[in-house]
Amino acid sequence: MIGKEFGSRKDSAAFAGGQFGDEGKGRLVDERVNFYAQEREVFVCRNNGGANAGHTIELPDGQRIALHQLPSGVLTENATLVLGKGMVIHPGDLCEEIHQVEKLSGGPIKAEIWIDEKALLSLDTHRAYEEALKGFNGAGKGATGRGIAPAYADYYLRQPLQVRDLVTFDIEKLTQHYQFYERLFQALTGVGLSRFAVSTLGKEGKAPVGSLDEFLSHLSKQRDFLMPYSRNVIELLRERWQDKGIAFVFEQAQGIGLDPWYGVYPDVTASRTGFDAIFDSTEGVVDPSEIEFRAGVIKATYMSSVGVRRLPTMMEEGLAKRIREDANEYGATTHRPRDIAYLDLPAMRFFVKAGGFNCLVPTHLDIVYPDVPIRVCIEYRDRTGKKTYYSPDQASLDQIRPVYVEFDPWDKEVVRKAKTPAELPPEANDFLDFISEQLGLPIWMITTGPRRGQGIVFEGV
Ligand code: IMP
Repeated sequence: MIGKEFGSRKDSAAFAGGQFGDEGKGRLVDERVNFYAQEREVFVCRNNGGANAGHTIELPDGQRIALHQLPSGVLTENATLVLGKGMVIHPGDLCEEIHQVEKLSGGPIKAEIWIDEKALLSLDTHRAYEEALKGFNGAGKGATGRGIAPAYADYYLRQPLQVRDLVTFDIEKLTQHYQFYERLFQALTGVGLSRFAVSTLGKEGKAPVGSLDEFLSHLSKQRDFLMPYSRNVIELLRERWQDKGIAFVFEQAQGIGLDPWYGVYPDVTASRTGFDAIFDSTEGVVDPSEIEFRAGVIKATYMSSVGVRRLPTMMEEGLAKRIREDANEYGATTHRPRDIAYLDLPAMRFFVKAGGFNCLVPTHLDIVYPDVPIRVCIEYRDRTGKKTYYSPDQASLDQIRPVYVEFDPWDKEVVRKAKTPAELPPEANDFLDFISEQLGLPIWMITTGPRRGQGIVFEGV
């Protein structure tokens, strides 16, 4: 476990989701990258997940684009975007994402892109298999359908495809991979793999996997496009991490509540979502305990989740609906409406430890209603009334009874205009103090509204 101390490597910051993903990390990463980039080169590193992630960024002219595999900072000239070894890369979607950013910004991507040659490939075959499993026994029911778990499963089955297999275009390996999934898919569904349509980022949103020849021909085109970005990232990173003139921002995708070991199993993702994953993905070049700010990003007044988990603090639909509309709580990747729950401090106390956070960034502080007190679950009781603790297991969570406290709401318009903590309503400051004290971490920053620049950095952290 990583401690709570601030790391010694100046100009380095990392962001992870302190709840169930979609806490607003993308924008924070983007703003921090631009902050550092004013004076120096910045490396922006993603180390887990793949096309399951999604965050929307706004271009200077107001156009918006959802990023899935590229880290934030695509529009920043001084930035190098690193897609790390711990990620699963879908080459077709990545080509499309790069094209989309270039089309919208009217020219080549300003940032440099490095893809670790050892990152895993997640292909249409994985997406088809995920769908087949869902139909067969319901496994992965709430998943995003982006083939994430099967791609990581291939690693544990010791039959992974990596970016370097695409670059060298290892026909034997790629053919074997296709034939393996063709057999599995046929056996599970009774249907041929080639005509089965899977989710893709292209215009239609779905495309058939294709015959072996078609599959290889698509991959060959994607290889030509992506090859210039592929690198031995670990070697190159070693020098840069030692160079104190360069800033680093790490963006962990998803949230600790979706981690395979810490989340509500089995509706979890397949990659590690905490800061430990940075050590693994950089082969120890970056020891996460050296990172100065390791921020757990949380929604300040509620939590949201997309998937099939049953959270013990789920809200009644009336208030949930209001929040969903006001805070646009729809999945950026799948557009599904998100479930809305009250803050669950017993779970979040566990997530803070598991994630390796040393500070908090509460977002959405403006989501409050004058007529509705803010409810927070402070502890769990079992059926006999005895205090009990968070366990990442649905059967255990189904047994607990949340104990709530309530806080007075504040004026959201005052929050949206505030530029310093002193300008926040006293109720909001009291609430932030309470969360900070309960989770045992200082508050580094907050966001106070949906637009860029609506945020406050707390001094002295
Ligand atoms: P998978 O990552 O597609 O395997 O999905 C597993 C679970 O994680 C599902 O409940 C997804 O909805 C959820 N999930 C995966 N990525 C994200 C994300 O970026 N934000 C929110 N939920 C996610």
